[in-house]
Amino acid sequence: MSQANQPPLQQRKVRFDFADTPLHWVPNEPEASHIMNGLHLLLPAGEFWFCKVYNKALPLVSEPSLREDVRGFVLQEAQHARAHGSALTPYLIRHGIDPKPFTRKVDWLFDKVLCDYPLGENALTRRLQTWWLRQRVGLIAAVEHFTCVLGDWVVNSRGLDHADPVMLDLLRWHGAEEVEHRCVAHDLHVHLGGSLAMRWLFMLIATPALLYLFSDAMKVMMRQDPTTRYRPGFLRMWHDLGKRGLLPTTASVGRSVLRYFNPRYHPRIEGDLQAALNYLASSPAALRAEAEKAAA
Ligand SMILES: [Fe+2]
Ligand SMILES: [Fe+2]
Repeated sequence: MSQANQPPLQQRKVRFDFADTPLHWVPNEPEASHIMNGLHLLLPAGEFWFCKVYNKALPLVSEPSLREDVRGFVLQEAQHARAHGSALTPYLIRHGIDPKPFTRKVDWLFDKVLCDYPLGENALTRRLQTWWLRQRVGLIAAVEHFTCVLGDWVVNSRGLDHADPVMLDLLRWHGAEEVEHRCVAHDLHVHLGGSLAMRWLFMLIATPALLYLFSDAMKVMMRQDPTTRYRPGFLRMWHDLGKRGLLPTTASVGRSVLRYFNPRYHPRIEGDLQAALNYLASSPAALRAEAEKAAA
């Protein structure tokens, strides 16, 4: 099993204090700050949805080591959702940004469209439950490819070193755990019968969906930020920020999408696991969580 040569996945009960974090936490870079702030709007709902889907999938997993990986994955994703959610009130709302115009949409997406019974519960939809679960597991596998690629970038890129240390630690701790558990979603998808064609299909769905969600989240925040003026052209903006080292380059993310279409693809080739584990061993929030656990 892919995670077999790694320590078991563990939940690190991190907490972050955003009292001194400025709205433009990447100094003088409102666009980069707001693009990455989209994570606080999207992930609380999105990652708790991962957990719900995986808890449903768990009884279908016959391999004990994969079951353990899935349990560890759920614990980590739940903590990610809580950590990003903890930035809403003391950070975004304190700075006058109301997240609801965006979070209303994602709540609808996860609660009404990607729920167990989007077409209502009846004999047919009950019979389709395992099929529908497999589709959602396939979609999560495609999204987890991006979280690993972006996580690896945020851990290893030096372009954000001058940013607010608390927000940067949140992103790097999260990114490092994404690299740490990068194989779980793919292995679960394959274990439940996910095919190469399904992998391709879900990547073709996940890529435009994530682009839309991040551009919309950024638009919602920039329109409320009195110091910025929203300009359309998300991809152009991302391309410019990537060239300046403030986001992963569009070319590197594009190449990672192409790798996903390789029939021999496996996420174990993605990211620098050792760099991720090194970061987790030195992350201020992870060290605090470990000290609190030892003292309890
Ligand atoms: Fe996560
Ligand atoms: Fe993840």
